[in-house]
Amino acid sequence: MEAIQTAIDTTSEDYKANRAAMEKLVEKLKAELKKAREERSDKARKRNAELGKLTVQERLDLLLDKNTPWLEIAPLAARGMYDGGVHGAGSRVGIGVIHGRECVVMANDPMIKGGTIYPMGVKKSLRMQTICMENRLPAVTLVDSGGAFLPLQSEIFPDADDGGRIFYNQAWMSKMNIPQLTAVMGLCTAGGAYIPAMSDHVVHVTGTGAIFLGGPPLVRAATGEEVTAEELGGAMVHCQESGVSDYFAEDDRHALQILRDIVETLPRQRKAVIPTRAPKPPLYDPKEIYGIVPRRISQPYDVRELIARLVDGSEFLEFKTLYGPTLVCGWAYIHGYQVGILGNNGVLFSNSALKATQFIQLCDRQGIPLLFLQNIAGYIIGREYERGGITKDGHKMVNAVATSTVPKFTVIVGASFGAGNYGMCGRAYSPRFLWMWPNAQIGVMGGEQAADVLVSVKNDQLVREGQPPLQKDFAEAIRQPIIDNTLKEGDAWYSTANLWDDGILDPATTRDVLGLAIAASLNAPLEGRVQGHGTFRM
Ligand code: COA
Repeated sequence: MEAIQTAIDTTSEDYKANRAAMEKLVEKLKAELKKAREERSDKARKRNAELGKLTVQERLDLLLDKNTPWLEIAPLAARGMYDGGVHGAGSRVGIGVIHGRECVVMANDPMIKGGTIYPMGVKKSLRMQTICMENRLPAVTLVDSGGAFLPLQSEIFPDADDGGRIFYNQAWMSKMNIPQLTAVMGLCTAGGAYIPAMSDHVVHVTGTGAIFLGGPPLVRAATGEEVTAEELGGAMVHCQESGVSDYFAEDDRHALQILRDIVETLPRQRKAVIPTRAPKPPLYDPKEIYGIVPRRISQPYDVRELIARLVDGSEFLEFKTLYGPTLVCGWAYIHGYQVGILGNNGVLFSNSALKATQFIQLCDRQGIPLLFLQNIAGYIIGREYERGGITKDGHKMVNAVATSTVPKFTVIVGASFGAGNYGMCGRAYSPRFLWMWPNAQIGVMGGEQAADVLVSVKNDQLVREGQPPLQKDFAEAIRQPIIDNTLKEGDAWYSTANLWDDGILDPATTRDVLGLAIAASLNAPLEGRVQGHGTFRM
């Protein structure tokens, strides 16, 4: 494969200004991540220490193999929601290595409102389980939670994708033969009691861990009975009498060691095989991406410049270079794994959609994972293009993306608007993982366009009523709130708070994250998957 030759001038003023702007965003990202990991009240820290518990970070450090990567999922979930302090939606989730085996680990943080589960916490648990199921990864849960965050119980409990779904998924994961290990390191109350109960292996810490359907406050209120948490559902009760728990642990450290021992005994599974070769770094420094990505999201640039900084040796075998040039497709390797890449170089036309469809079919047949680099304003609109069948051709691309069964990975590197989000494998198209860059924006359309549409609709209405069109200042009064709101609810921070993605990435680390994610995805077999697509409208 030939290496991409860069056309970037790293001494230009534009490059330097772009770089400074992205560096600022990356600094903000690092600060936000640190805050999410570390900002806890003194009161909560003191209480945790009094109870003889380790912090979540200490628990993770003891559970995971030393000097192995940790791919954290949605660390900024619930950012800015609730009272602003429910960092990571109250839990840490990630893919880590235990005895050489990739596992998905989830840990409630008891230092955030007693580890209680907020609506976003439920969403994060469900995301964790989806990752386990799609990638066939064992689930290791460190439970330490006061259960549902009661003031918001109506948003947590009744609906299909609320709390009950967590236990439904646990039953299915068990049926799918996905190992589930739980350490009871604090409370597992009410519905939360089912997290250990529905696991294959339950480790229970004496003194702090307790499992019960109704905790001491509820028992007191309901029956007047005075009982301690330990008497009601402690390790002795459940390891010796009820049989709910399997392994008695003296303290947190002991429990984590037992979890490691259990993972060691799990049967090893063969990973799916995709084409690989010896990994090598890109020819160009991935940090140069900072200077390549324009400050203005609508400014076009060549996505090959990103590919050159993400793939091994910057080598890229481009497919149909001259046809449908607004979408760049081709093969490359990332950390030694072969991938088929689709990257936007402008609006999607019929020919670019057809090219994507063919390329996705090829990768799906050959068992090659797909990487989508999303920077898309949408599919082309207008009379000429409707007559040319843009909807028909866009549909083929959307159909192929939806039904391809190789692992898919999406990075939103800029814009993610309209049906372009669907065709380029947005969240609803089940990429195994989806990340945003800090400059990215997402929505049905950009704020300016949405505002123009609404002003135009209003003017049509006025014309129908025989009135003059809106005066400039009235039009502005409609436009500005739409623009402001679209910006606020369409940026990467809002997206990641709402768990529309798996996290915001520093562009310079994207290549490494992709390498880890591809490796993790290969735990699910590729053989035997259903191939082929639906009916393509011709
Ligand atoms: N819903 C809402 N808030 C809750 C809560 C719940 N279920 N459980 C605890 N909290 C809050 C507390 O009010 C406290 O808030 P504050 O810091 O603003 O004062 C914070 O979480 C920490 O609780 P606290 O009791 O001070 O800490 P602790 O470490 O001594 O105990 C628990 C933590 C979870 C063991 C204890 O709070 C408890 O037993 N909670 C009730 C559990 C329960 O019965 N849940 C049923 C829901 S399914």
